[in-house]
Amino acid sequence: MLTTIIYRSHFCDDVPVKALESMVAAASVKNREADVTGILLFNGTHFFQLLEGPDEAVKAIYQTICEDSRHYNVVELLYDYGPSRRFGKVGMELFDLREHDRDEVLQTILDKGTSKYQLTFNDRALQFFRTFVAATEKPNYFEVPASIDWAFVTDTEARYVDPQVAMKHADCGFAFQPIIDPLSQEIVSLEALVRTASGDSPEAYFSALSGEAVYEADLNSKQAAFALASALELHDQTISVNLLPMTLVNVPDAVATLLQSIELNGLVPEQVIVEFTESEAISQFDAFTQAVRSLKAAGISVAIDHFGAGFAGLLMLAQFQPDRIKISRDLIRDVHKSGPRQAIVQAIIKCCASLEIAVSAVGVEKPEEWMWLESAGIFHFQGHLFARPCFCGIPPVAWPEKKSLL
Ligand SMILES: Cc1cc2nc3c(=O)[nH]c(=O)nc-3n(C[C@H](O)[C@H](O)[C@H](O)COP(=O)(O)O)c2cc1C
Repeated sequence: MLTTIIYRSHFCDDVPVKALESMVAAASVKNREADVTGILLFNGTHFFQLLEGPDEAVKAIYQTICEDSRHYNVVELLYDYGPSRRFGKVGMELFDLREHDRDEVLQTILDKGTSKYQLTFNDRALQFFRTFVAATEKPNYFEVPASIDWAFVTDTEARYVDPQVAMKHADCGFAFQPIIDPLSQEIVSLEALVRTASGDSPEAYFSALSGEAVYEADLNSKQAAFALASALELHDQTISVNLLPMTLVNVPDAVATLLQSIELNGLVPEQVIVEFTESEAISQFDAFTQAVRSLKAAGISVAIDHFGAGFAGLLMLAQFQPDRIKISRDLIRDVHKSGPRQAIVQAIIKCCASLEIAVSAVGVEKPEEWMWLESAGIFHFQGHLFARPCFCGIPPVAWPEKKSLL
Protein backbone atom coordinates (compact mmCIF):
# COMPACT_ATOMS: atom_id res chain seq x y z
CA MET A 1 0.00 0.00 0.00
CA LEU A 2 1.37 3.42 -0.95
CA THR A 3 1.20 5.75 2.03
CA THR A 4 1.61 9.53 1.99
CA ILE A 5 2.43 11.60 5.05
CA ILE A 6 2.59 15.39 4.96
CA TYR A 7 3.69 17.42 7.94
CA ARG A 8 4.84 20.93 8.72
CA SER A 9 7.30 22.01 11.39
CA HIS A 10 9.25 24.98 12.71
CA PHE A 11 12.96 25.25 11.97
CA CYS A 12 15.18 25.76 15.04
CA ASP A 13 16.84 29.17 14.74
CA ASP A 14 20.13 27.96 16.18
CA VAL A 15 20.73 25.48 13.32
CA PRO A 16 22.70 26.91 10.36
CA VAL A 17 20.62 26.68 7.16
CA LYS A 18 23.76 25.45 5.37
CA ALA A 19 23.64 22.29 7.50
CA LEU A 20 20.39 21.32 5.79
CA GLU A 21 22.13 20.37 2.55
CA SER A 22 24.13 17.53 4.08
CA MET A 23 21.14 16.40 6.12
CA VAL A 24 19.02 16.19 2.97
CA ALA A 25 21.74 14.32 1.06
CA ALA A 26 21.91 11.69 3.84
CA ALA A 27 18.11 11.58 4.11
CA SER A 28 17.79 11.05 0.38
CA VAL A 29 20.01 7.97 0.50
CA LYS A 30 18.20 6.58 3.55
CA ASN A 31 14.81 7.16 1.96
CA ARG A 32 15.80 5.50 -1.29
CA GLU A 33 16.99 2.42 0.59
CA ALA A 34 13.57 2.22 2.21
CA ASP A 35 11.78 2.84 -1.12
CA VAL A 36 10.54 6.19 0.21
CA THR A 37 10.46 9.32 -1.96
CA GLY A 38 9.33 12.89 -1.43
CA ILE A 39 10.06 16.57 -1.29
CA LEU A 40 10.91 19.01 1.50
CA LEU A 41 9.89 22.67 1.20
CA PHE A 42 11.53 25.34 3.33
CA ASN A 43 10.49 28.99 3.59
CA GLY A 44 13.13 30.22 6.01
CA THR A 45 10.99 29.47 9.09
CA HIS A 46 8.90 26.40 8.40
CA PHE A 47 9.38 23.03 6.78
CA PHE A 48 6.71 21.23 4.80
CA GLN A 49 7.51 17.68 3.78
CA LEU A 50 5.76 15.02 1.75
CA LEU A 51 6.89 11.43 2.22
CA GLU A 52 5.50 8.54 0.19
CA GLY A 53 6.23 4.84 0.03
CA PRO A 54 5.38 1.56 1.77
CA ASP A 55 3.33 2.17 4.94
CA GLU A 56 5.80 0.78 7.51
CA ALA A 57 8.80 2.52 5.92
CA VAL A 58 7.08 5.93 5.74
CA LYS A 59 5.89 5.60 9.34
CA ALA A 60 9.38 4.66 10.58
CA ILE A 61 11.05 7.59 8.81
CA TYR A 62 8.38 10.00 10.01
CA GLN A 63 8.97 8.78 13.57
CA THR A 64 12.72 9.62 13.35
CA ILE A 65 11.94 12.98 11.79
CA CYS A 66 9.53 13.83 14.65
CA GLU A 67 12.32 13.25 17.15
CA ASP A 68 14.86 15.42 15.31
CA SER A 69 15.91 18.42 17.42
CA ARG A 70 16.64 20.60 14.37
CA HIS A 71 12.95 21.39 14.19
CA TYR A 72 9.94 21.49 16.57
CA ASN A 73 6.15 21.79 16.51
CA VAL A 74 5.88 18.94 14.03
CA VAL A 75 2.23 18.78 12.98
CA GLU A 76 0.94 15.92 10.86
CA LEU A 77 -1.34 17.38 8.18
CA LEU A 78 -2.16 14.35 6.07
CA TYR A 79 -1.88 10.58 6.40
CA ASP A 80 -3.46 9.01 3.37
CA TYR A 81 -3.20 6.26 0.77
CA GLY A 82 -2.94 6.59 -2.99
CA PRO A 83 -2.40 4.64 -6.18
CA SER A 84 0.87 6.24 -7.34
CA ARG A 85 3.73 8.45 -6.18
CA ARG A 86 3.46 12.17 -6.74
CA PHE A 87 7.17 12.88 -6.27
CA GLY A 88 8.92 9.65 -7.20
CA LYS A 89 12.19 10.87 -8.67
CA VAL A 90 14.41 11.18 -5.61
CA GLY A 91 14.50 9.93 -2.04
CA MET A 92 14.44 13.48 -0.73
CA GLU A 93 14.92 16.88 -2.31
CA LEU A 94 15.10 20.25 -0.58
CA PHE A 95 13.23 23.06 -2.24
CA ASP A 96 13.90 26.52 -0.80
CA LEU A 97 10.88 28.68 -1.62
CA ARG A 98 12.92 31.86 -1.10
CA GLU A 99 15.04 31.12 -4.14
CA HIS A 100 12.10 31.12 -6.53
CA ASP A 101 9.87 33.71 -8.03
CA ARG A 102 6.60 33.97 -6.08
CA ASP A 103 4.37 33.62 -9.14
CA GLU A 104 6.14 30.57 -10.48
CA VAL A 105 7.10 28.72 -7.34
CA LEU A 106 4.08 26.42 -7.21
CA GLN A 107 4.38 25.46 -10.87
CA THR A 108 8.10 24.77 -10.40
CA ILE A 109 7.26 22.38 -7.56
CA LEU A 110 4.51 20.68 -9.55
CA ASP A 111 6.88 20.24 -12.49
CA LYS A 112 8.88 17.94 -10.24
CA GLY A 113 5.85 15.66 -9.98
CA THR A 114 6.08 12.16 -11.37
CA SER A 115 2.49 10.97 -11.16
CA LYS A 116 1.35 9.02 -14.23
CA TYR A 117 -1.61 11.33 -14.38
CA GLN A 118 -1.18 15.05 -14.40
CA LEU A 119 -0.97 16.45 -10.89
CA THR A 120 -4.29 18.10 -10.22
CA PHE A 121 -5.68 20.34 -7.54
CA ASN A 122 -8.39 17.79 -6.83
CA ASP A 123 -5.69 16.02 -4.88
CA ARG A 124 -5.75 16.94 -1.18
CA ALA A 125 -1.98 16.56 -0.95
CA LEU A 126 -1.44 19.16 -3.64
CA GLN A 127 -3.98 21.47 -2.03
CA PHE A 128 -1.74 21.37 1.05
CA PHE A 129 1.22 22.42 -1.12
CA ARG A 130 -0.73 25.35 -2.48
CA THR A 131 -1.79 26.46 1.00
CA PHE A 132 1.76 26.21 2.35
CA VAL A 133 3.27 28.13 -0.56
CA ALA A 134 0.60 30.85 -0.31
CA ALA A 135 1.02 30.86 3.51
CA THR A 136 -2.75 31.28 3.95
CA GLU A 137 -2.87 29.02 7.02
CA LYS A 138 0.08 30.67 8.75
CA PRO A 139 -2.03 32.56 11.33
CA ASN A 140 -3.16 29.13 12.57
CA TYR A 141 0.34 27.82 13.22
CA PHE A 142 0.35 28.15 16.98
CA GLU A 143 3.92 27.83 18.14
CA VAL A 144 4.05 25.77 21.29
CA PRO A 145 7.17 26.45 23.38
CA ALA A 146 9.08 23.48 24.76
CA SER A 147 7.13 22.08 27.74
CA ILE A 148 10.35 22.17 29.69
CA ASP A 149 9.66 25.93 30.09
CA TRP A 150 6.84 25.19 32.54
CA ALA A 151 6.71 23.74 36.02
CA PHE A 152 3.42 22.64 37.58
CA VAL A 153 3.31 23.81 41.15
CA THR A 154 0.64 22.82 43.69
CA ASP A 155 -0.22 25.50 46.17
CA THR A 156 -2.69 23.99 48.63
CA GLU A 157 -3.44 20.71 50.40
CA ALA A 158 -6.51 18.64 49.49
CA ARG A 159 -9.58 19.52 51.55
CA TYR A 160 -11.84 16.60 52.60
CA VAL A 161 -15.20 16.16 54.30
CA ASP A 162 -16.47 13.13 56.14
CA PRO A 163 -19.09 11.54 53.83
CA GLN A 164 -20.88 9.98 56.83
CA VAL A 165 -21.57 13.43 58.17
CA ALA A 166 -22.15 15.22 54.89
CA MET A 167 -24.52 12.80 53.21
CA LYS A 168 -26.13 10.30 55.53
CA HIS A 169 -28.08 7.44 53.86
CA ALA A 170 -26.61 8.09 50.39
CA ASP A 171 -25.91 4.99 48.30
CA CYS A 172 -23.21 6.79 46.30
CA GLY A 173 -20.27 9.12 46.75
CA PHE A 174 -18.69 11.89 44.68
CA ALA A 175 -15.22 12.87 43.62
CA PHE A 176 -14.57 16.51 42.82
CA GLN A 177 -12.35 17.76 40.01
CA PRO A 178 -11.68 21.45 39.40
CA ILE A 179 -12.15 23.16 36.06
CA ILE A 180 -9.51 25.86 36.06
CA ASP A 181 -8.22 28.95 34.29
CA PRO A 182 -4.46 28.20 34.52
CA LEU A 183 -3.15 31.64 33.60
CA SER A 184 -5.29 33.59 36.02
CA GLN A 185 -4.87 30.75 38.57
CA GLU A 186 -8.58 30.53 39.25
CA ILE A 187 -10.89 27.57 39.87
CA VAL A 188 -13.80 28.22 37.51
CA SER A 189 -16.02 25.38 38.71
CA LEU A 190 -15.89 22.05 40.54
CA GLU A 191 -17.29 19.03 38.77
CA ALA A 192 -18.92 16.40 40.99
CA LEU A 193 -18.21 12.96 39.51
CA VAL A 194 -20.35 10.09 40.74
CA ARG A 195 -18.72 7.12 42.52
CA THR A 196 -20.01 4.21 44.60
CA ALA A 197 -20.27 4.88 48.34
CA SER A 198 -16.79 3.36 48.73
CA GLY A 199 -15.28 5.45 45.92
CA ASP A 200 -15.52 2.93 43.06
CA SER A 201 -16.04 3.96 39.41
CA PRO A 202 -19.31 5.34 37.93
CA GLU A 203 -19.61 2.11 35.91
CA ALA A 204 -19.63 0.14 39.18
CA TYR A 205 -22.32 2.44 40.56
CA PHE A 206 -24.60 2.22 37.51
CA SER A 207 -24.01 -1.50 36.86
CA ALA A 208 -25.97 -2.33 40.02
CA LEU A 209 -29.03 -0.64 38.51
CA SER A 210 -31.27 -1.39 35.56
CA GLY A 211 -34.21 0.03 33.61
CA GLU A 212 -35.91 3.13 35.00
CA ALA A 213 -33.97 2.76 38.27
CA VAL A 214 -30.91 4.17 36.47
CA TYR A 215 -32.68 7.49 35.87
CA GLU A 216 -34.14 7.68 39.39
CA ALA A 217 -30.71 6.98 40.90
CA ASP A 218 -29.06 9.46 38.55
CA LEU A 219 -31.39 12.23 39.72
CA ASN A 220 -31.37 11.28 43.42
CA SER A 221 -27.57 11.09 43.53
CA LYS A 222 -27.46 14.85 42.91
CA GLN A 223 -28.81 15.32 46.42
CA ALA A 224 -25.56 13.76 47.71
CA ALA A 225 -23.45 15.87 45.33
CA PHE A 226 -25.05 19.09 46.59
CA ALA A 227 -24.76 17.95 50.24
CA LEU A 228 -21.03 17.33 49.80
CA ALA A 229 -20.56 20.60 47.92
CA SER A 230 -22.29 22.42 50.73
CA ALA A 231 -20.13 20.71 53.38
CA LEU A 232 -17.04 21.65 51.36
CA GLU A 233 -18.11 25.29 51.72
CA LEU A 234 -18.03 26.27 48.08
CA HIS A 235 -19.45 29.72 48.86
CA ASP A 236 -20.13 31.35 45.47
CA GLN A 237 -18.10 28.79 43.52
CA THR A 238 -20.06 27.02 40.78
CA ILE A 239 -20.65 23.27 40.90
CA SER A 240 -21.06 21.09 37.80
CA VAL A 241 -23.10 17.91 38.01
CA ASN A 242 -23.78 15.31 35.32
CA LEU A 243 -27.20 14.09 34.30
CA LEU A 244 -28.15 11.47 31.75
CA PRO A 245 -30.18 13.35 29.11
CA MET A 246 -33.04 10.88 29.44
CA THR A 247 -33.25 11.39 33.22
CA LEU A 248 -34.84 14.77 32.61
CA VAL A 249 -37.33 13.20 30.21
CA ASN A 250 -38.10 9.95 32.05
CA VAL A 251 -38.34 11.03 35.69
CA PRO A 252 -41.49 13.07 36.39
CA ASP A 253 -40.79 16.50 37.90
CA ALA A 254 -37.03 16.01 37.57
CA VAL A 255 -36.31 19.74 37.38
CA ALA A 256 -38.41 20.47 40.47
CA THR A 257 -36.62 17.70 42.40
CA LEU A 258 -33.27 19.12 41.38
CA LEU A 259 -34.26 22.64 42.46
CA GLN A 260 -35.48 21.28 45.78
CA SER A 261 -32.17 19.58 46.61
CA ILE A 262 -30.23 22.68 45.53
CA GLU A 263 -32.24 24.78 47.98
CA LEU A 264 -32.15 22.17 50.73
CA ASN A 265 -28.36 22.31 50.72
CA GLY A 266 -28.11 26.07 50.85
CA LEU A 267 -27.06 26.50 47.22
CA VAL A 268 -28.66 28.64 44.52
CA PRO A 269 -29.60 27.51 40.98
CA GLU A 270 -27.30 30.14 39.44
CA GLN A 271 -24.24 28.38 40.84
CA VAL A 272 -25.22 25.01 39.37
CA ILE A 273 -24.22 23.77 35.93
CA VAL A 274 -25.88 20.61 34.63
CA GLU A 275 -23.71 18.71 32.17
CA PHE A 276 -25.10 16.31 29.58
CA THR A 277 -22.80 13.88 27.87
CA GLU A 278 -23.04 14.10 24.13
CA SER A 279 -22.26 10.41 23.79
CA GLU A 280 -25.51 9.46 25.57
CA ALA A 281 -28.19 8.78 23.01
CA ILE A 282 -31.09 11.21 23.19
CA SER A 283 -34.13 9.35 21.94
CA GLN A 284 -36.76 12.03 22.51
CA PHE A 285 -35.03 15.18 21.43
CA ASP A 286 -38.04 17.50 21.65
CA ALA A 287 -38.89 16.38 25.18
CA PHE A 288 -35.22 16.77 26.13
CA THR A 289 -35.06 20.29 24.67
CA GLN A 290 -38.19 21.19 26.63
CA ALA A 291 -36.63 19.92 29.88
CA VAL A 292 -33.46 21.92 29.19
CA ARG A 293 -35.61 25.04 28.79
CA SER A 294 -37.11 24.42 32.25
CA LEU A 295 -33.61 24.10 33.72
CA LYS A 296 -32.55 27.38 32.13
CA ALA A 297 -35.77 29.09 33.18
CA ALA A 298 -34.93 28.12 36.76
CA GLY A 299 -31.47 29.75 36.49
CA ILE A 300 -29.42 26.56 36.08
CA SER A 301 -26.71 26.63 33.38
CA VAL A 302 -26.30 23.84 30.87
CA ALA A 303 -23.11 22.34 29.47
CA ILE A 304 -22.50 19.63 26.88
CA ASP A 305 -19.73 17.29 27.99
CA HIS A 306 -17.52 15.12 25.72
CA PHE A 307 -18.46 17.38 22.84
CA GLY A 308 -17.40 16.03 19.47
CA ALA A 309 -17.20 12.39 20.47
CA GLY A 310 -20.79 11.26 20.55
CA PHE A 311 -24.02 10.79 18.68
CA ALA A 312 -25.54 14.24 18.69
CA GLY A 313 -22.99 16.09 16.61
CA LEU A 314 -23.48 19.56 15.28
CA LEU A 315 -27.24 19.22 14.84
CA MET A 316 -27.53 19.38 18.60
CA LEU A 317 -25.90 22.82 18.60
CA ALA A 318 -28.24 23.93 15.83
CA GLN A 319 -31.28 22.94 17.89
CA PHE A 320 -30.31 24.28 21.26
CA GLN A 321 -27.34 26.21 22.54
CA PRO A 322 -25.82 25.32 25.91
CA ASP A 323 -23.94 27.88 28.02
CA ARG A 324 -20.75 25.86 27.74
CA ILE A 325 -19.31 22.99 25.79
CA LYS A 326 -16.52 20.77 27.01
CA ILE A 327 -14.42 19.37 24.18
CA SER A 328 -13.87 15.63 24.44
CA ARG A 329 -10.55 14.11 25.44
CA ASP A 330 -10.72 12.14 22.18
CA LEU A 331 -10.22 15.38 20.25
CA ILE A 332 -7.74 16.90 22.71
CA ARG A 333 -5.30 13.95 22.75
CA ASP A 334 -2.04 15.09 21.10
CA VAL A 335 -3.78 18.06 19.48
CA HIS A 336 -0.40 19.82 19.24
CA LYS A 337 0.77 17.16 16.77
CA SER A 338 -2.33 16.63 14.66
CA GLY A 339 -3.53 18.84 11.81
CA PRO A 340 -7.03 17.28 11.65
CA ARG A 341 -7.58 17.68 15.43
CA GLN A 342 -6.36 21.28 15.28
CA ALA A 343 -8.73 22.09 12.41
CA ILE A 344 -11.71 20.56 14.26
CA VAL A 345 -10.93 22.26 17.58
CA GLN A 346 -10.45 25.61 15.83
CA ALA A 347 -13.79 25.19 14.07
CA ILE A 348 -15.52 24.42 17.39
CA ILE A 349 -13.92 27.49 19.01
CA LYS A 350 -15.01 29.71 16.11
CA CYS A 351 -18.54 28.34 16.10
CA CYS A 352 -18.87 28.77 19.87
CA ALA A 353 -17.46 32.30 19.71
CA SER A 354 -20.18 33.23 17.20
CA LEU A 355 -22.81 31.74 19.52
CA GLU A 356 -21.25 33.17 22.74
CA ILE A 357 -20.89 29.65 24.15
CA ALA A 358 -18.00 29.19 26.59
CA VAL A 359 -15.55 26.41 25.69
CA SER A 360 -13.44 24.25 27.93
CA ALA A 361 -11.13 21.32 27.23
CA VAL A 362 -11.45 18.10 29.19
CA GLY A 363 -8.90 15.38 29.84
CA VAL A 364 -5.82 17.53 29.35
CA GLU A 365 -2.79 15.43 30.27
CA LYS A 366 0.21 16.94 28.51
CA PRO A 367 1.67 20.44 28.88
CA GLU A 368 1.87 20.70 25.07
CA GLU A 369 -1.86 19.96 24.69
CA TRP A 370 -2.67 22.72 27.18
CA MET A 371 -0.27 25.20 25.53
CA TRP A 372 -1.65 24.59 22.06
CA LEU A 373 -5.27 24.93 23.28
CA GLU A 374 -4.44 28.10 25.22
CA SER A 375 -2.87 29.63 22.05
CA ALA A 376 -5.96 28.62 20.10
CA GLY A 377 -8.16 30.59 22.50
CA ILE A 378 -9.37 28.13 25.15
CA PHE A 379 -8.92 29.35 28.71
CA HIS A 380 -10.70 26.76 30.87
CA PHE A 381 -9.26 23.30 31.43
CA GLN A 382 -9.89 20.11 33.30
CA GLY A 383 -7.52 17.18 33.42
CA HIS A 384 -4.89 15.20 35.26
CA LEU A 385 -2.23 17.72 34.21
CA PHE A 386 -3.75 20.16 36.71
CA ALA A 387 -5.78 18.09 39.19
CA ARG A 388 -7.13 14.56 39.53
CA PRO A 389 -10.63 13.86 40.86
CA CYS A 390 -10.59 13.68 44.65
CA PHE A 391 -13.11 11.47 46.52
CA CYS A 392 -15.18 13.52 48.98
CA GLY A 393 -12.76 16.41 48.72
CA ILE A 394 -11.23 19.18 46.68
CA PRO A 395 -7.81 18.28 45.30
CA PRO A 396 -4.82 20.62 45.16
CA VAL A 397 -4.30 22.24 41.75
CA ALA A 398 -0.93 22.14 39.96
CA TRP A 399 -0.69 25.63 38.46
CA PRO A 400 1.69 26.21 35.56
CA GLU A 401 4.56 28.57 36.35
CA LYS A 402 7.09 29.79 33.79
CA LYS A 403 10.42 28.35 34.95
CA SER A 404 12.25 31.62 34.33
CA LEU A 405 9.90 33.28 36.84
CA LEU A 406 10.46 30.72 39.60
C1 LIG B 1 12.95 18.84 8.33
C2 LIG B 1 13.63 17.52 8.35
C3 LIG B 1 13.37 16.57 7.38
C4 LIG B 1 14.00 15.32 7.38
N1 LIG B 1 13.69 14.38 6.43
C5 LIG B 1 14.27 13.17 6.49
C6 LIG B 1 13.93 12.15 5.54
O1 LIG B 1 13.12 12.35 4.65
N2 LIG B 1 14.52 10.94 5.66
C7 LIG B 1 15.46 10.68 6.62
O2 LIG B 1 15.96 9.56 6.67
N3 LIG B 1 15.78 11.62 7.53
C8 LIG B 1 15.23 12.84 7.48
N4 LIG B 1 15.57 13.80 8.41
C9 LIG B 1 16.64 13.49 9.36
C10 LIG B 1 16.17 12.54 10.44
O3 LIG B 1 15.45 13.26 11.41
C11 LIG B 1 17.37 11.85 11.11
O4 LIG B 1 18.25 12.79 11.57
C12 LIG B 1 18.05 10.97 10.10
O5 LIG B 1 17.12 10.01 9.65
C13 LIG B 1 19.27 10.25 10.67
O6 LIG B 1 18.87 9.38 11.67
P1 LIG B 1 19.89 8.28 12.23
O7 LIG B 1 21.12 9.03 12.66
O8 LIG B 1 19.12 7.68 13.37
O9 LIG B 1 20.16 7.32 11.12
C14 LIG B 1 14.93 15.04 8.40
C15 LIG B 1 15.21 15.99 9.40
C16 LIG B 1 14.57 17.23 9.38
C17 LIG B 1 14.88 18.26 10.43
